[in-house]
Amino acid sequence: MTQLKIISAESAQESVITCEKGAFARAKGDMVFTDSNVYALYKSEIDALSLPVYVMEAGEEHKNQSTLFALLSAMADAGLHRKDTLVCVGGGVVGDIGGLAAALYMRGIGCVQVPTTLLSQVDSSVGGKTAIDLGDIKNLVGVFRQPREVLVDATFLKTLPPREIKCGLGEIVKHGALSAPLFDRLIGNKDRLFDLAFLEEIVPENIAFKADVVQKDAHERNLRKCLNMGHTTGHALELYEKTRSHGEYVLIGMLYEIELAKAKINCDEEYLEKLQSLIYEVLGAGRLPSAYEAAKFARLDKKNNSVDKISIVAPVKKGQYALLEFDYDEYVELLKIAGGKLA
Ligand SMILES: NC(=O)c1ccc[n+]([C@@H]2O[C@H](COP(=O)([O-])OP(=O)(O)OC[C@H]3O[C@@H](n4cnc5c(N)ncnc54)[C@H](O)[C@@H]3O)[C@@H](O)[C@H]2O)c1
Repeated sequence: MTQLKIISAESAQESVITCEKGAFARAKGDMVFTDSNVYALYKSEIDALSLPVYVMEAGEEHKNQSTLFALLSAMADAGLHRKDTLVCVGGGVVGDIGGLAAALYMRGIGCVQVPTTLLSQVDSSVGGKTAIDLGDIKNLVGVFRQPREVLVDATFLKTLPPREIKCGLGEIVKHGALSAPLFDRLIGNKDRLFDLAFLEEIVPENIAFKADVVQKDAHERNLRKCLNMGHTTGHALELYEKTRSHGEYVLIGMLYEIELAKAKINCDEEYLEKLQSLIYEVLGAGRLPSAYEAAKFARLDKKNNSVDKISIVAPVKKGQYALLEFDYDEYVELLKIAGGKLA
């Protein structure tokens, strides 16, 4: 069992993260929130908690105000009160909506997160970001609020489709580009990246890395921005193409942003080549989408300082990154050149 604590100095909130097989069966709360896929797969385990259950339709397209308010109504119907706790069992969609509902209901009740996808285990359940999408804008409405407890149970990974494993690996490789020990672990196990036993080993290490970043900067004022590596170009590609998973777009974004960093500043090229080969190991063969054509979507990114400036977090050396800013035209031109190199 691995146990970690996040104590956010800014908000004085504490979150205990436990990584242990079978941890879910010990979840304590007053109501379960899950999605239709997870409930179909884990009905008997969820029902064994003997709590009222609210099930949303699975999918990002349901991460909206209708689902949020339907859940809040179900919480009221179940008679949840101030001292009660909502247990969110699912991927990042369930975690984000459930975390927000728990923050809003009676101005805040307890929340336990039980992340069931690789992405939610290593990323979204850690750090207290909650949100729903509004219109076409992702995560527009939300709050920062740490869950009381996060129970990370590797048992759930067994039923995850390969696409979702690849998605989680996107964030894991991103963590590797920010942390030298994690990078060495991934390079040393390049042939086991999709192996469940290996994933089980590295999930707690990834959580510890993210928890450390979040503890130092819960509200993304400084250090936490590093977690946006690959996301500026990755997010633009995601809006442009919409066919692959979020984690794959982060990795493709990193491939392009590595080329941008090489063009702009002094980098360790040998290390960056190793990082790119690790990324290709996860992505597999196939044509990359054109970031040059997707560039206009990067202008809308909330991480930029203005519409004419594009900000990225780029890897430069092992365990080191740089925050770089480009004029929009320069960004587009460099993406065009990068496209030629990566093709
Ligand atoms: N809060 C944060 O800090 C943060 C960080 C990253 C991403 N996110 C958000 O997370 C969401 C993406 O999360 P996700 O990738 O987990 O997506 P998801 O919640 O949609 O889950 C992906 C799919 O896997 C299914 N699923 C979940 N657990 C399963 C299991 N054990 N076995 C089989 N199928 C299972 C789900 O039903 C869904 O169809 C996005 O909305 C994103 O904005 C939030």
